[in-house]
Amino acid sequence: MLPRHYFHTKTQSYQYFCRFAIVLAQGTFNTKIGTFAAVAGSVVGLGNIWRFPYLAGDNGGFAFLIIYLFVSLLISMPLMLSEFSIGRSQRCNAMRAFRNISSGPWFLIGFLGVATAYVIDSFYMVVGGWSLKFLQLSIVNAFADMSAADIKGTFGHLLSNGTQLVLWSEATLVIATAVIIGGVSNGIEKFNKYLMPILLLLLIILAVNSIFFLPDSYKGLQFLFYPDFSKITFQTVLKALGQSFFSLSLGMGAMLTYSAYMPKSQRLPRTALFIVSFDTIVAIISGLAIFPAVFSFGIDPSAGPELLFITMPAVFSKIVGGQFLAILFFLLVFLAASTSQVSLLEVVTAYVSEELHIQRRKAAILIFLTMTCTGGICALSLTGAPSLTFFDMSVFDIFDYVSSNIMLPIGGLLIVLFAGWIMPKRILHAQLTNNADHEPFYFKIIRFLIRFVAPIFVSILFLHLIGIF
Ligand code: PHE
Repeated sequence: MLPRHYFHTKTQSYQYFCRFAIVLAQGTFNTKIGTFAAVAGSVVGLGNIWRFPYLAGDNGGFAFLIIYLFVSLLISMPLMLSEFSIGRSQRCNAMRAFRNISSGPWFLIGFLGVATAYVIDSFYMVVGGWSLKFLQLSIVNAFADMSAADIKGTFGHLLSNGTQLVLWSEATLVIATAVIIGGVSNGIEKFNKYLMPILLLLLIILAVNSIFFLPDSYKGLQFLFYPDFSKITFQTVLKALGQSFFSLSLGMGAMLTYSAYMPKSQRLPRTALFIVSFDTIVAIISGLAIFPAVFSFGIDPSAGPELLFITMPAVFSKIVGGQFLAILFFLLVFLAASTSQVSLLEVVTAYVSEELHIQRRKAAILIFLTMTCTGGICALSLTGAPSLTFFDMSVFDIFDYVSSNIMLPIGGLLIVLFAGWIMPKRILHAQLTNNADHEPFYFKIIRFLIRFVAPIFVSILFLHLIGIF
């Protein structure tokens, strides 16, 4: 039992016991490697596969990569360390973590994070559903001998079929919910620990095949890597920053929530550096798997859904062993989407379970039911139903636009402002140094980046995304 004088105020002692109870309720990750796998599972997702490679190829190749690394290290990493420090020091859901550290309206940042996770998950599950459907189509060898136009038709057909859209996205939600119900260590940690190595292996097989076994693959490498510094403008820097945020799951409490389960001995700066490097490497290998194949068949590259669900199947339909490669590819996309979906769902689950004082399992089922409705609406809106279209945009597009362009940057900005200016310095120090009494050289640098550099750049990014400049 702790001595009574340990706490200065009643509120402090109450907070201590709440935190203690919560750690027991949600559990923690058991191993460092499991923690790494879970965080990697969250960050590696559709952002790496369908956006990064195209963005890099279209915006200066190697030159873009350098800019991307710069903004990731100087802006995204400090934000990630802010989330890690807030989460691990409080060991509770995003909203409560802010409230524990400071009274006043700051808890709204956590609330915004939970809302953002919910919104992103509602459309992310739909895309996960597409990948499952395409996995099934690959298994039955549906793409054999199809032309690109046929495949476009198949994808279009899926988008116009409400029942299919809802059923396939629902299937991904069932899987993610089952993982969440499994618990932090038995569910999330195990799921990622087994699936992340498989994901990496699939990616490497596909990349090796594209580079070494397809004719003219060098053209794809040229597209991806040829350094064109003339394409680098301030806009490019902002594009790189936006991509880095989304790809590293920042600005909405996913990193904060996962860090609440991290072991005490986990070194946060090292983990953040590892994760940023890993995420970038996966994005580059995705490019190596995709572009040599696309260029090898003289197809014009594109970004987003079209790249994954039209261009790639068209490529597979022409390759020897294409059916097998298509299965590997859509399995890869599904795994990447699913491990990210789990992290989004966990942000909401931790919040609901702790704030409503109900068990994880009940919270997960409750969220499953509401997400079935919102995800279902997102899915159905793709069919073009007029009642689900506003300002010429489907609900799916609105959720995507609002979360990526408005909620994430505002969340990111408020998190760094909070960590840099509101949260006591000792919390950041204790978390970044694992309670050591010395001050490593990098602490001052990271704090400077959190207090000054990140807020300025994130504010500019936000103004840019909403079209102000
Ligand atoms: N980082 C994921 C991706 O690259 C997306 C994501 C965003 C996941 C926010 C969780 C939280 O696709």
